[in-house]
Amino acid sequence: MLDIKKIRVDFPILKQQINGKPLVYLDNAATSQKPQVVIDSIVNYYTTINANIHRGVHTLSQKATDAFEQAREKLQKHFNAKKSYEIIFTAGTTHSINIVATGFTSLLQKGDELIVSAMEHHSNIVPWQMLCERTGAVLKIIPMNSAGELLMNEYGKLLSKKTKLVFVNHVSNALGTINPIKEIIDKAHQVGAAVLIDGAQSCPHIKSDVQALDVDFYVASAHKLCGPTGVGILYGKEAWLNKLPPYQGGGEMIKEVTFEKTTYADLPHKFEAGTPNIAGVIAFGTAIDYLNNLGFDNIATYENELLQYATKKLLQIEGLKIYGTSKHKTSVISFNIDKIHPYDIGTIIDKLGVEVRTGHHCAQPIMDFYKIPGTVRASFSFYNTFEEVDVLYNALIRAKTMLS
Ligand code: ALA
Repeated sequence: MLDIKKIRVDFPILKQQINGKPLVYLDNAATSQKPQVVIDSIVNYYTTINANIHRGVHTLSQKATDAFEQAREKLQKHFNAKKSYEIIFTAGTTHSINIVATGFTSLLQKGDELIVSAMEHHSNIVPWQMLCERTGAVLKIIPMNSAGELLMNEYGKLLSKKTKLVFVNHVSNALGTINPIKEIIDKAHQVGAAVLIDGAQSCPHIKSDVQALDVDFYVASAHKLCGPTGVGILYGKEAWLNKLPPYQGGGEMIKEVTFEKTTYADLPHKFEAGTPNIAGVIAFGTAIDYLNNLGFDNIATYENELLQYATKKLLQIEGLKIYGTSKHKTSVISFNIDKIHPYDIGTIIDKLGVEVRTGHHCAQPIMDFYKIPGTVRASFSFYNTFEEVDVLYNALIRAKTMLS
């Protein structure tokens, strides 16, 4: 369905050579590349309508404000939020999680329980540990099996009236596992707990409907979705966003300021203090349009074909072991070859133009579970090709020969 050759022309960066070899970019889980329309969107903003938003009666400010708010509506539509003001613009997923984790400080008591999964990125662990330190709440962990799948029975046993909040990634960045989030959300709601889903790794592959999921908070980053870095969203149900206190004080988040007392602005402005990344937000909207034009079903189908092909091909390499073998996976392959250190493999295949991430992928508990220092991670996007999988395979054979 997708014309990959044509799509690749949209991404100027893909034309270049790395170390004298054609670039094979397979680090899409770290960040996606940007199509020309997104780059143009940033340039156009600064060349034609740069002004601060929500602040001026002048024409440029109105134009910038309109473009910014149009982006919010695009995001609202994309994630099917009931209201546009349930979409808060943030600096990214990490920032979004910190807003919620900080906000819960005044809502928790000593002995309350929070549940996280064993396969989280550090950004969905550390802010909650800090919250536990502030409040005396206790963190419980949903364990996983060796395929990298959550043990849902164990999850059921962890839930109780003491559970106040559950936070789980939709897709694991290190393993690619797609977690059963609807079941996780429904079970949490049965005991009255709220749920935050970290969509950083699912958003490039799966179009999530926050109303159908009935999720309380959903967070994601623009840069995983062909948009710019430094921008993300916090979706929250209106009632929850009204309940949480503001995260930062500053301009634009107030109704009235006096030295005696300040009152806060309504949503979404209560959470958007200071001048935001205006160009980034507008370009985020452009990226969402670009991906929806391709179609998320088409993207998922093609990426799954790439995943199946690459998995089969890589497993032909003797000594190669894949971590994360769930049937429900996005296009991520984490692996090691024999006892070779992942950095050594990454360094050699970079010389051959192949860009992958190596290390613990900000998910040290997963590496501890498998008792490994890290993995090599190849993560595929819709603009990658089957030929690039072959280049990766040949580069790995070369690395293995040199390092064995
Ligand atoms: N979280 C990003 C990754 O998995 C940076 O690489």
